[in-house]
Amino acid sequence: MSKHNFLEDSRFEGLRPFDKKIWLASPTMHGDEQHWVDEAIRTNWVSTVGANINEVERQMAEYVGVKYAVALSCGTAALHLATKLAGERLYGQAKPNHGTLEGHKVFCSDMTFDASINPVAYEDGEAVFIDTEYDTWNMSPEALEKAFEIYPDVKLVVVAHLYGTPGRMEEIKAICDKHGALIVEDAAESLGAKYKLNGRWVETGTLGDYNCISFNGNKIITGSAGGMFLTDSKEDADKVRKWSTQSREAAPWYQHEEIGYNYRMSNIIAGVIRGQIPWLEEHMAQKKAIYERYQEGLKDLPVRMNPYDAERSIPNFWLSCLIIDKNAMAHHVRGEREERWQSEKGKSSPGEILAALAAFNAEGRPIWKPMHLQPIYRTHAFVTAEGSGQDVGADIFRRGLCLPSDNKMSPEEQDRVIEIIRRCFR
Ligand SMILES: Cc1ncc(COP(=O)(O)O)c(C=O)c1O
Repeated sequence: MSKHNFLEDSRFEGLRPFDKKIWLASPTMHGDEQHWVDEAIRTNWVSTVGANINEVERQMAEYVGVKYAVALSCGTAALHLATKLAGERLYGQAKPNHGTLEGHKVFCSDMTFDASINPVAYEDGEAVFIDTEYDTWNMSPEALEKAFEIYPDVKLVVVAHLYGTPGRMEEIKAICDKHGALIVEDAAESLGAKYKLNGRWVETGTLGDYNCISFNGNKIITGSAGGMFLTDSKEDADKVRKWSTQSREAAPWYQHEEIGYNYRMSNIIAGVIRGQIPWLEEHMAQKKAIYERYQEGLKDLPVRMNPYDAERSIPNFWLSCLIIDKNAMAHHVRGEREERWQSEKGKSSPGEILAALAAFNAEGRPIWKPMHLQPIYRTHAFVTAEGSGQDVGADIFRRGLCLPSDNKMSPEEQDRVIEIIRRCFR
């Protein structure tokens, strides 16, 4: 059943829809943003140079703990230039109609947003997808090790931290070091999350050879758009800044010795981010409280929250998710673009829960569909930890879902969301 009238369903008796929609993760403005945007306009700094850009680069580099931050138009642009830098370092500068990764495979996180790994294709490389592990829902180090056994020549790995939860980076970095491979770190969703690397706490965004964050509208802080490349290398920072401003050389005229991009951040966008940075800690605290409230409110249901390694990581709790126990999954099938589900007593499914939430005016979302299941990438290699074909990513996609995680949701509203989910299992 995919069309179902939840408001008439006796299981949901006494519950009423939210008057104001409860979002998955929407921007939260505080007022300071307006000040810095106005300042840019008042002083006429409304292009891709200005004090807001300089200030957000300085503040983010300091916060994350890197020497240089380069402000770009979006996280995808940061990932593209990071991937290109890696390709150039490994294989040299490419001719204008060729990518730097042409003819080369790249190991990639599989359960992530496609923006993490599309840059491999932009640079003409071939993504090989590495399966996910259950402990953090990120790249499985065991599967990565297997992949190096199968493709020993690979020299680049793109790793994302899903939903703000750091992956098992200590193991992943050790494997990459052993095989002489570079890492592009996609910390788009995990700004502010911390990881204990070899006994020392560091921020995500410092864990790769090339690191990226995003200020997209749904992220923990936002500029409405925007992204950054983070590095300790002055040479890499200078290169990314130059590539992002059309690769202009130091000459009196437009002189081009490399392919360029229009990827630089605008000083207006930077004004919004400048106003948001002071609120990062508060947003994370709100998201953590939301996660813990779900954990408590759902604890006697046959579900678990998205897990993290409490010894070695502090997530930013950007999105709260749940996964339904195998034996509590009601019938639910997905085709390419449609799904069918059925109610079953004592059980439920992501399809049913998301439909119920939508009926009551709350926004959840399916787990990001793994890349190896995407039609565009289905012919690419996919490496699992066990040869038996255990596909962890597909399993989490099948049984999991993202819950409304908006930091403006009140405890009372969240209690109602929890109650809706509870009723789905009746
Ligand atoms: C994991 C991940 N990588 C990359 C991106 C791309 O960032 P942007 O939207 O800023 O281009 C996003 C989100 O948008 C993301 O969630």
